[in-house]
Amino acid sequence: MRSPVFAAILLFATNALPLDAGQAELCFACHGRDGVSTTPLTPSLGGQPSFFIVAQLFLFRDNRRGNAAAAMYEVARGMSDDDLRAWGELVSKLSPPGPPNSAPEPARVARARLARPGALRGLP
Ligand code: HEC
Repeated sequence: MRSPVFAAILLFATNALPLDAGQAELCFACHGRDGVSTTPLTPSLGGQPSFFIVAQLFLFRDNRRGNAAAAMYEVARGMSDDDLRAWGELVSKLSPPGPPNSAPEPARVARARLARPGALRGLP
């Protein structure tokens, strides 16, 4: 049996199929139009490179990103390797979000503090 690492390397190795823009509506419903999220606890996707999106979708599909990612497991679990690459290509074309004009979302800050104690020193 191939290792997950070998499988992940294969994922990056070939070209993605193009998706039509309407299919991105599925992602935008939660992640926001043009990759800028306004949904609580849902990250913006704009500005992320293709390899990051492919890697995260791979982890979601294998249910390796924990309980908070249940929604993404449902989204990704039926995806083929070509689907992962196609979503990576599409998302990588979105512009990065501008700097936030409001205070960070308290629930996200609390979750980040749990994940990496000390990393957010100085934030209220
Ligand atoms: C039902 C809502 C929903 C839909 C639909 C959805 N997502 Fe997500 N997505 C989430 C949530 C919530 C998270 C954060 C999960 C976590 O905290 O681990 C997430 C996380 C992600 C991440 C990880 C980002 C990061 O910074 O770690 C990627 C990549 C992603 N989604 C891509 C997609 C793509 C591509 C689609 C469309 C095919 C999509 N999502 C559709 C809710 C959704």
